[in-house]
Amino acid sequence: MKRYSFEEGNSYREIFGSKATFFSRAPGRVNLIGEHTDYNDGFCLPTAIDRSVIFSGELRDDKKIIVFSENYSEKFELELSELKSCDRINHWSDYLVGILKEFQVLNLETKGFQAVCKGNVPEGSGLSSSAAIEVAFSFFLNGINDFKLEKKDLALLSQRAENNFVGVKCGVMDQLVSALAIKNNAIFIDCRNLETEYIPFNFKDYSIVIVNSNVSRELGSETFYNERREQCREGVRILKKILPDISALRDVTEDEFIGYENELPVVIRKRCRHVITENERVKKSIEWLGMGKIEEFGKLMIKSHESLRDDYEVSIKELDKLVEISLSVDGCIGSRMTGAGFGGCTVSIVNKKSLKSFEEIVKEKYFKFTAKKCEVYVTSTENGAEFKEI
Ligand code: GLA
Repeated sequence: MKRYSFEEGNSYREIFGSKATFFSRAPGRVNLIGEHTDYNDGFCLPTAIDRSVIFSGELRDDKKIIVFSENYSEKFELELSELKSCDRINHWSDYLVGILKEFQVLNLETKGFQAVCKGNVPEGSGLSSSAAIEVAFSFFLNGINDFKLEKKDLALLSQRAENNFVGVKCGVMDQLVSALAIKNNAIFIDCRNLETEYIPFNFKDYSIVIVNSNVSRELGSETFYNERREQCREGVRILKKILPDISALRDVTEDEFIGYENELPVVIRKRCRHVITENERVKKSIEWLGMGKIEEFGKLMIKSHESLRDDYEVSIKELDKLVEISLSVDGCIGSRMTGAGFGGCTVSIVNKKSLKSFEEIVKEKYFKFTAKKCEVYVTSTENGAEFKEI
């Protein structure tokens, strides 16, 4: 494998001297509600956002792949015969190698190709830039080779790449929404059977607003994530003694939990309470949204944040402050941290008339409190991944 550095601002023709013939794109996501439920066989309600990763490229005559990352101004080269012996090197190319390896497991050997890749999903911010690159790349490989895998299979393959090669034990939400989203909708995902339902999310008076705390999610967040997963498993193990039919927290009702919560050690009890009540909130959200009652949905977002903060303990003071400031603005009817936590973003529902004052107030007060600048993105709900010949 060779790596080169380049000056910034390149495009496919400048790098490779010819015209790209294939294109793929996959978006980042924001989870509206249903946090830390996916790996508990539960429910979540994410939507794709208007920030994506794209690949454009063409086939080569040999068995080599070359991918130039515009974001890193760096070229990654690989002889496909060397793929088997590639190890993780904690570099952006890990995502590519992880995906290539998962195709190889399915006996799908790619042709040689060269491509340019670039993205505008902020990294380490909890908007799933990793899922976006994985899904965009798996759509690209599927398309250029005409492998004919379904979108859902490509999402699952991408999740396996992240679990097995990149080494992050994420659930299925991010890759699934990136692959399957439809504009003007959120996706209700049943993470047990992977059934999905599109929930119209297009309100005349309200926008989805993401605020990036600019506290990067990276430091230590993996450890906390895996610890939470383990605590949930422990909760199931204990509750199973009383409720033998359960196999995940998804199977425990709120009433059962209230009946048996004292059997659980305090910390495990809090983790389980979050997951069980969060699943209920997702189900209620679907009902309210179905009736067009966005204000009621907003209230559930607030409850979700409180639960993530107090029971699941994955929020941080910056995110709590952002939620508090956001809710203090007239016209903001719901706000919560989104994604895994320990940094990253909040998501809020804001009246379109208040967008300007929301941005000003949030930026000013957040800076006052943290001496950090936050970024405010008003987003739309976008389509999921695509592949096309150009
Ligand atoms: C990360 C993971 C997802 C999910 C969320 C928390 O984004 O990749 O699978 O667990 O955290 O809801």
